[in-house]
Formats: sequence, structure tokens, C-alpha cells
Amino acid sequence: METQVEEIAEGIYRLSTFVPDANFMFNQFLVDAEEPLLFHAGLKRLFPLVSAAATSVVPVERLRWITFGHVEADECGGMNHWLAAAPGAEVAHPTMGCIVSVDDLADRPPRRLSDGEVIDLGGKRVRSIDTPHVPHGWDAHVLFEETTGTLLCGDLFTAMGPSPALTEQDLLEPALQAEDVFKATCLTPETAPTIRRLADLEPTTLGLMHGPSFGGDAAGQLRGLADAYEERHASAQAAAT
Ligand SMILES: [Fe+2]
Ligand SMILES: [Fe+2]
Repeated sequence: METQVEEIAEGIYRLSTFVPDANFMFNQFLVDAEEPLLFHAGLKRLFPLVSAAATSVVPVERLRWITFGHVEADECGGMNHWLAAAPGAEVAHPTMGCIVSVDDLADRPPRRLSDGEVIDLGGKRVRSIDTPHVPHGWDAHVLFEETTGTLLCGDLFTAMGPSPALTEQDLLEPALQAEDVFKATCLTPETAPTIRRLADLEPTTLGLMHGPSFGGDAAGQLRGLADAYEERHASAQAAAT
């Protein structure tokens, strides 16, 4: 296995590792700024590969912020390895997730983020947007990098197989196929409205954790995903009555 490093928007790098036995990509994002930020700490077993790759962009000991979409091993398994390698780094995570899990799991106390809070990285600005249970995880959030319009959207649009660093190809069909296999998304009345609020940000780029980054009509893709989940939720409701 190897971790590839590609710039998907100005100063935002995808650290991408394809794991063949899972037929799955695990992408982490490094935002290069005065205070460099990592989105997704990744699996513990991938830490040696990913941290070596990250060094080609920013020396790991310079990392200032460690963030992830929600508490799951692929999102945050390596969190304490990064904290150990970067003595000045802090984990930043939504308040609810800190109270429920991260205050206890992290080797140093995390910074608690409120919904909509911005971290000014110096040259880049990331806004944390709470998305509870979307696509899954009580503590779920996404990050919107305001200077490039890049939405780091975590497990939204999860697809199987390898994928290019940046595409304009449709994300929806591969995501719905993966959803049929994994059933990873919490289908609730809030799923579609939450995704539509992300579309209203009109992002220029989407950074997927398990799939390509997307550089086309991102709002259109998000609205398509919201419509598909709304339809699935309505069918499930109808079948239950
Ligand atoms: Fe997840
Ligand atoms: Fe994930």
C-alpha cells in the first residue's frame, strides 16, 4: 500500500490510501496554512504511511489542528499517534462529541467547537458545521474551508473501489450503490434538509473520505443526494404503515 498526495484545491492536499483487501479508499486532508490542519486522523495502522506522506507537505511536528468527521476508527483511530508526533497540536471536535467520547479518548484535552464556529488557520479558514447523524454519528460534522470554497464532507458520497484525486464525474450513482451494500446512512426526516443546507454553501470542491474529490457542480450533487435519501426515507415510511 502507498499513500498518494495530491492538491485538490489551493493549499488543500488529499492524502489517499487504497486498501485492496477492503476495496476501499481512505482519504485524509491536509490544509496547509500558518496553523496546518488535518481532517481525519485515519486508521491507527495507516499512521506510519500517512504521516510519512504528510511530511512532503508539512513537517508533522508543525501540525496545529487534528480534526475528523465523527468518532469511528477510520476517522480518528490514529488521533493519539498524531498528538504524540505533533506536540503543539490540538484535537478540535463538536462539543457533543467531546462530551460523549473525545474528552475521554484523546490523550490531550480537545477544543470544543460550536456549530458554525470558524478556526482561523492563518491564510485559510475552516468552518465547522454540525450534521448530527448525517451520514452517521451523533457527533458528526463537516468542515467548510471558506477561502477556497472546499467542503470536506467526510463519509457523504462514500463509494467503493479506487478513485482519482479530482473528478467532475457523477458521484451519486456510485454512492447509492455503496449505500445499498453498507447501509451506512441514518435515514431520518433530517437527513435531506441537512444535506441541502450544505448545498446552500455553494461549494466549489468536495473532499470525500471514500471516493474522489469533486470539482464540478457540487451543490447539484449534494441536492441530488438529498433528493435520493428523501425518496428512500419516504419509501421506508410508506412500507412501515
Ligand atoms: Fe463513518
Ligand atoms: Fe469514513
